[in-house]
Amino acid sequence: MTTPRGRVAVYPGSFDPLTNGHVDIILRGARLFDRIIVAVLRNAEKHPLFSAEERVQAARDVFAEYANVEADSFDGLLVDYAHLKQATAIVRGLRAVSDFEYELQMALMNRRLGPEIETVFMMPAEQYTYVSSRLVKEVFALGGPVTGLVPEIVEYRLREKRSQAQQDV
Ligand code: PNS
Repeated sequence: MTTPRGRVAVYPGSFDPLTNGHVDIILRGARLFDRIIVAVLRNAEKHPLFSAEERVQAARDVFAEYANVEADSFDGLLVDYAHLKQATAIVRGLRAVSDFEYELQMALMNRRLGPEIETVFMMPAEQYTYVSSRLVKEVFALGGPVTGLVPEIVEYRLREKRSQAQQDV
């Protein structure tokens, strides 16, 4: 059964910053669902590198050419946001066994909170199985190259953040 607006999936996360691993999962989701909404969690970390607005904008810029990929931010319970958007699925990427326990807990909690919403796991391409936002930020902060790990626009915005920080000191 499809809703009039088609099958909608929410892809939630911190996306601080969006990596090519995230991009890979979003592209896979965009092929499976009529619409996929990249949902940036507000206030997950006290001091994110990018504001929620900047992270939403990065996703919008990267997927500007994709009519069925949207980006938005949310607060509160993910299932409430999914209901608001009439989403029937939550998409999450699974990189390695180490991701599994946390993902299983979240998926089962979300099922308890919203039994009609299904969590769908997808594996990214092998070359992104070790890529995480945390490691990208660490490598970049220490002067290492992140080319190929994040979209070009994100790499550019990381450099902008660095020059802003240098100007502020
Ligand atoms: O990319 P992340 O940081 O692993 O994403 C975690 C996220 C945003 C999916 C998770 O923290 C979340 O859904 N937060 C919203 C609060 C919520 O609904 N919690 C209860 C369900 S586990």
